[in-house]
Amino acid sequence: MSGRATVVAVAGEEVVGFSDVDGDGYIDMLFVSPRHLRRGIARTLLCFIEQRARSAATPELTSDVSIAARPFFESVGFRVVREQHPVKEGVELTNYRMRKALSPPSSATL
Ligand SMILES: CC(C)(COP(=O)(O)OP(=O)(O)OC[C@H]1O[C@@H](n2cnc3c(N)ncnc32)[C@H](O)[C@@H]1OP(=O)(O)O)[C@@H](O)C(=O)NCCC(=O)NCCS
Repeated sequence: MSGRATVVAVAGEEVVGFSDVDGDGYIDMLFVSPRHLRRGIARTLLCFIEQRARSAATPELTSDVSIAARPFFESVGFRVVREQHPVKEGVELTNYRMRKALSPPSSATL
């Protein structure tokens, strides 16, 4: 993880979520503690990642998203590029390559 930009959400002294993004805008991980779901923590983490990616002129964010997480990613503007069926330890899974195009910051906000 040291080569990736990792973002951690903290409530009090407790880590309640984390995510990351690489230089190409690929998000490998996004997790929120089961005790803290539906409070906007993932949305806040994604918003932070998106701002950093825009500042770096990264053209898009992408991720390979589980069936369970797809509604969240759709809610923050990602769209499905394709359905995928990776095989992990002999088990075929279903996930989605999802993408969100990023426009560069307008000159008015620089
Ligand atoms: C997916 C995940 C990160 C969402 O975290 P979260 O902090 O609960 O999400 P938020 O509270 O920011 O949700 C923002 C919006 O996303 C949508 N959303 C989030 N979870 C949803 C769910 N289970 N079903 C439907 N919509 C959902 C809703 O529109 C929600 O807004 P609302 O609560 O006002 O209706 C979390 O459920 C998780 O960690 N899941 C397990 C790990 C995982 O699958 N990670 C993704 C790897 S690709």
